[in-house]
Amino acid sequence: MEGPPLIDRRMAFVLGKGGVGKTAVAAALALGLADAGHRTLLVEVGAETRTEALFGTAPALDEPVEVRPGLFALTVDAELATQEYLSIQLRVKPLVEMMARSRAFHQVTQAAPGLAELVTLGKIWDLATTVRDGAPVWDRLVVDSPATGHGIALLEAAGNARDLAGSGPIRDQAEAIEKVVRHPAATGIAVVAMPEDLAVTEAIEAVEILRARGMPVACAVANAVRRSPFSPADAQALRAVLADPAAGDAERAAATAAIAVTDGAHHDEREVEGLARESGLPVAVLPHVPDLAPGSGGLEALSAALMGDPAIRGAA
Ligand SMILES: Nc1ncnc2c1ncn2[C@@H]1O[C@H](COP(=O)(O)OP(=O)(O)O)[C@@H](O)[C@H]1O
Ligand SMILES: [Mg+2]
Repeated sequence: MEGPPLIDRRMAFVLGKGGVGKTAVAAALALGLADAGHRTLLVEVGAETRTEALFGTAPALDEPVEVRPGLFALTVDAELATQEYLSIQLRVKPLVEMMARSRAFHQVTQAAPGLAELVTLGKIWDLATTVRDGAPVWDRLVVDSPATGHGIALLEAAGNARDLAGSGPIRDQAEAIEKVVRHPAATGIAVVAMPEDLAVTEAIEAVEILRARGMPVACAVANAVRRSPFSPADAQALRAVLADPAAGDAERAAATAAIAVTDGAHHDEREVEGLARESGLPVAVLPHVPDLAPGSGGLEALSAALMGDPAIRGAA
């Protein structure tokens, strides 16, 4: 699908299997965008938050918190967002608060298919389109999406609501949201995988589903890819050591360890090739870093790799 590079789109949704590094990639992208001078909001969807582990600052549920210069973080919890939405729509806040305390409310939000996703997406859209003094409040939004199926459901929530809503204000609102979410000039989806069969397969399937539904997939991200400092000639020399009956134990141990490094890197390289081939997408490649904790430099390393990658920033 045509569209500008991911860094030029107002909304980026970072999607993928659980544990592949969606949160790390979303944080790294948001950090890079903020460093490039864009006022950026990192949106974490769900009650569970990892922003604190990455930035050392806890995000707030209701208000964006500045975690780095120009970079703000916010957690959107579907249930809280649903309460907020209903109190605005119904203009009866006390009633909604009362309902929210009851078990019945929980059952309603659980039972209404797609309501939580719709309200969450509506909240994200609201943030993306908020204007203050004639200018957008946020230049960029990076959404740390829920794991694959739930992430796809989130992106589809507006389209589904439009189909169900018949006619009227809800339909109009859903349609407005859907337009922005589907538009490749406004929105880009980055599908993340780690270099292992299951994650790559799930990423490729997600790309196919999203494409079939007309969603603006911008790129794939291969995360935590191991690299080897050894050249092919080095690798050959290492194998020669193992084949040499005169080699000592220490030499063998060193050669074995070094070969494991080259094999790991070779394995990951093939996974990245498979991801690129099967998805037909540009793939950004991020290194495996020893640590992602604040102050370790890991997140900054991922950010630099992302922002320098043609799959994210476009060909020069
Ligand atoms: N590039 C990387 N190098 C090393 N470890 C990583 C990398 N990206 C993520 N991790 C680690 O992998 C785990 C899962 O990452 P996370 O971002 O929480 O995944 P997700 O949000 O997709 O569930 C975490 O422990 C994280 O620190
Ligand atoms: Mg996560």
